[in-house]
Amino acid sequence: MKYKKYFRKTSLKQKRVGEFFLKEIAIKRPKILLEIGVFHGVTARNICELLKKIHGNDFKYIGLDLFAENIENKDEIIPNTKFSNPFKNIYFKYIKRQDPYSLEAVKDLLKKFENNISLIKGNSNIVLKKIDMSKIDFVFLDGGHDYQTVKSDLNLCREVIINGGTVLCDDYDLSYAPGVKKAIDEFSYDNDIKRTIMCNNRFAKLEKH
Ligand SMILES: C[S@@+](CC[C@H](N)C(=O)[O-])C[C@H]1O[C@@H](n2cnc3c(N)ncnc32)[C@H](O)[C@@H]1O
Repeated sequence: MKYKKYFRKTSLKQKRVGEFFLKEIAIKRPKILLEIGVFHGVTARNICELLKKIHGNDFKYIGLDLFAENIENKDEIIPNTKFSNPFKNIYFKYIKRQDPYSLEAVKDLLKKFENNISLIKGNSNIVLKKIDMSKIDFVFLDGGHDYQTVKSDLNLCREVIINGGTVLCDDYDLSYAPGVKKAIDEFSYDNDIKRTIMCNNRFAKLEKH
């Protein structure tokens, strides 16, 4: 399964990681998927292309991101939104006239799926409380990387796991974001939830036993 980059930045930039991720989605065949941390929307587009192949038009993708610097939490790690490739800077500044890290630009990248997507600009610590989790069957958790945020996101997604769905967490074992692993390990232990570490410690998959 090819993971395409669409001339943008993504956290799944290594080919084998993107392909591993898409294979997991293909196995689970979710109908309603939530991605926390959309960034430039590259993974979102790959997910939509795959779900369209599996379900036709009968799927939903929900994407949530700050799409801005986190003013409430200056310690949060935000990926560098600038390109090192000057052609990409020119392309977005003068041709697309878009900031690729914006709700409008992600909407544009996903426009062929406009009837299947819902993009939300906001902080997961607040917004997740308002999302109906009862129908969501897959969450890709790749938003805030600090301990409190990951812990809060996991607690707010607990219903998905209890209902038989999957929460796949990115960056499980990052040396510069140790709060991710701490939050996942505590959450799975405290709630008696099965935790599978995959792809050389890159992902943690959380499911019911
Ligand atoms: C690693 S990037 C996501 C990469 C994306 N999933 C991909 O595959 O390319 C993390 C994203 O999480 C967002 N983020 C950080 N803290 C957040 C929060 N509290 N609520 C919502 N989004 C958050 C950042 O704005 C950033 O775009």
